[in-house]
Formats: sequence, C-alpha cells, structure tokens
Amino acid sequence: MVVKTLQDLNTLVSLSKRRGFVFQSSEIYGGLGSCWDYGPIGSILKMNVKRAWWNAMTRRSDIVGLDAAILMHPTVWKASGHVDGFSDPLVDCKDCKTRFRADNTESYLTKKQCPQCGSKNLSEERNFNLMFKTHMGPLEDTGSVVYLRPETAQGHFVNFINCQQSSRYKIPFGIAAIGKSFRNEITPGNFIFRTREFEQMEMQYFVKPGTDEGFFNEWKERRLNFYLKFGIKKDNLKFHDHEKLAHYARAATDVEYKFPMGYSELEGIHNRSDFDLTQHMKFSGKSLEYFNEATKEKYIPYVIETAVGCDRLILAFMCDAYREEVTVQKDETTGKESEDIRIVMGFHPEIAPIKVCVLPLSKKEELTVPAMKIRDQLAEEFDVQYDETASIGKRYRRADEIGTPFCVTVDFETANDGAVTVRHRDKMTQDRIQISQLNTYVANGLRNFNT
Ligand code: GAP
Repeated sequence: MVVKTLQDLNTLVSLSKRRGFVFQSSEIYGGLGSCWDYGPIGSILKMNVKRAWWNAMTRRSDIVGLDAAILMHPTVWKASGHVDGFSDPLVDCKDCKTRFRADNTESYLTKKQCPQCGSKNLSEERNFNLMFKTHMGPLEDTGSVVYLRPETAQGHFVNFINCQQSSRYKIPFGIAAIGKSFRNEITPGNFIFRTREFEQMEMQYFVKPGTDEGFFNEWKERRLNFYLKFGIKKDNLKFHDHEKLAHYARAATDVEYKFPMGYSELEGIHNRSDFDLTQHMKFSGKSLEYFNEATKEKYIPYVIETAVGCDRLILAFMCDAYREEVTVQKDETTGKESEDIRIVMGFHPEIAPIKVCVLPLSKKEELTVPAMKIRDQLAEEFDVQYDETASIGKRYRRADEIGTPFCVTVDFETANDGAVTVRHRDKMTQDRIQISQLNTYVANGLRNFNT
C-alpha cells in the first residue's frame, strides 16, 4: 500500500463541498469574495477546534475567558494604532485593472510591473486601511462611524482591569477569547487561509516587566505542544522568528505550517511590551496599572500574546489529516490490475467531527430499528451519524472520508447475541462488542485511539 498526502488545495476544496465541511458563501448568487460557510460536518469540526483551544487555555489556573463585542468604541482603534496604521500599500494597473499589494508583489518590487499583464502603466501607491467601517444608529455622519474589529485582542486590553478584579487573579495571568474579526484584505485567497471575515483565538498573558522574555519562550513551547498533541505532524511545523519588529513589539515569532502552497503563518506569538495598556490609559484617561497588594508594587504589565486564526487552524488540521491509501488490486480471472483508493481524514479523535457511524447491514426493519436505537444510545454522549444506503464497503469509505474514528455495524446476529461489530478507522481492526458496553468501548477507544 502506498500512502499519499495532500498535494493540492483544490482536492480539499472539492472534498469540503462534497462532504459538507465548507461551502462558498452565497453560492447560488455566484459566491462572495473569499467568504465561506461551514456545513453540517464543518460546523462540528469548527466547534471541536474551538473547544480544544478553549480548554487548553482556560482550564488552567491562570487564564480567564472573555467574550467581547465585535463593535467597540471608535477611540479604541485610534489608541491601538489601527485607524492611522492598519493599512497595506495598494497599486492599480491602469491597463488590466488588477489591484495588488505593493509590498509583497515580486514583479512590482523588482521591475515595477503589473503581476497580471506586465504593464508599467500603474497608479501611485496609496495606503488602504483594512478595517471595515459601518455606522451606528440611523445617521450616516462621521460622528456615528464604528468599525468591525480587525482583531479580538483589543477587547482583552480594555477589559484588563475588569477581568483582573472580578477574578481576583494575580499577575502573571491571561485572558483568552474566541471571536469573529474582519479585515478588508486586498489579496485574500487559498480557500479559508486568508479571508475577509474570520475567527480568531487570542490569548493575552499579562506579566511583570522584566519577566516577559521567559514567558515569551514558555508560550512558544506550549503552543507548539498544543499542535503536536492534536496530531499535527512535527515535520510540518516550524518557528519563524521576526527580525523586523513592529514599533511596540519586543519579540515576535510565527508558528508556520507547511500548507500545500508552502510554509505560511498559522499563529503569531508576540511580546507586545506595555504598548497597548499605555495607549489605552492615554486615550481613555483611566488607569490600567496593576497593584500588587503583597509587595505594594504598581506597574503597567507587559503582554505576551498568542494569536491563531480558527479557520486557518481548521485548514491546517484538514491538510495534515488528509491521506490517500492506494492499493493495487489484481483481477483473478482477467489478471488486470487496478488501483483502489481509500481517502481518509485521519483527524485526532477529539477533532474528528463525527465520532461514530452506525450502519445496519441491510435496510430491513429487523436491522434498521435496533440500529436507530443504538444510534440514539450513542448520541447521548457522542456526535453520531446513521447511514443505511449503499454497500457496507461504500459506507465505510464515506465515514473514512470525514474522519469518523469508529463504525458500528448492526447485522443479523445482533438480535441473537446483543452485540455489534466495531471497526477502527486507522487500524481497520474489528471487535465484537455487547450493545450494553458500546458507549464505554467508544469512550475508551477515543481516549486511546492511537495506542
Ligand atoms: N492580535 C494580533 C493579531 O491579530 P495577526 O498576526 O494579524 O495578529 C493573528 O493575526 C492570526 O489570525 C494569524 O496568525 C492568522 O492565523 C489569523 N488571521 C489573520 N488574518 C487573517 C485572515 N485574513 N484570514 C484568516 N485568518 C487570519
């Protein structure tokens, strides 16, 4: 058997549509530029990814959760620097009308040429702010302008004192949040890698100045271990330390994943110094200093930030999980050889959207009725699918294609022995299990899936 990994993002785009992971937004109207909808399987996958991150962050004794509003006071974005500085340099080709970024387009940087048609008839560079603007209330005057947040992080900074005082946590402590962010990207693309509406999972860890370097290194290690724990292959991950830093940053690194288009940023880990809290103190006139009761010290904390896009992580999980198992089969009578391909999404069991698929061997009522009962029994604890159409082989393949760890087959023996056959997605082993023991078997099996 030969095992092939994912070579091309298009393979994933078509699998996503076929099996209900991700659909193009507003597809019946021709779609909307780089917006995507998560389907019946994808929406469960997304929840599992968020839960994995959320639990890793907030089940610690030093991190609290937050769910801040998308719309924030417009001065927040003045203080953060987004109104004046969150922009990309943009150039228009006057011949073919292509619009592209001036700072990362090879043909423009080297030859001042349009990347599409090669023309040199180009506009001046203009700065294009990436924040989406809207108006609050009925009047569209400048006084009512608000922004769709381009990052969740500012919610953490403006709530620093609220979270610290209500939880009574002492520094070092962190605030974690998951939520939508919006950026009017000039060049979105690569499926759900770069979109204009996306979800971020960000954590700000507030520390005493002087201890920041140590915590920055700790968080680098923790975040790498998170990816390894959930099954991402070590060889597909690397750190990329930034040499050129933003004016407020003392250190920055990206966790990069080897996507089919090459190594690209998955997560940013930054030492943001006391920049954000200082700015918000200046613009709001409120103190965001921390007071240590025990030592009587008062200071503005430094912040170590870990920021990952949920959608981008889903893409990494999908790319990493995809495999094709190719076996050459020989026809006994004709001697002809043909390829049999099993497509498997080898998700970590906690990430896999559906944990168990229940399959009656035939559509006869004597099997479908108990099979539905077993489905209901399992659904009390797990996300379950029920599938009764097509041959058993085809149904196994359908379950493999969405990464279902276990398939449960109800057969004509079930009524006599009160048992079902459970098949393991990766090992392809089969066990005969009593229905009364099935939930426990699946729970244990998920916990020890790879052992
Ligand atoms: N608060 C810091 C911050 O937002 P960032 O590097 O701009 O840092 C963090 O974004 C993460 O959010 C990125 O590493 C990426 O995973 C995700 N992200 C950023 N822009 C995105 C986009 N347009 N589409 C999808 N994910 C995006």
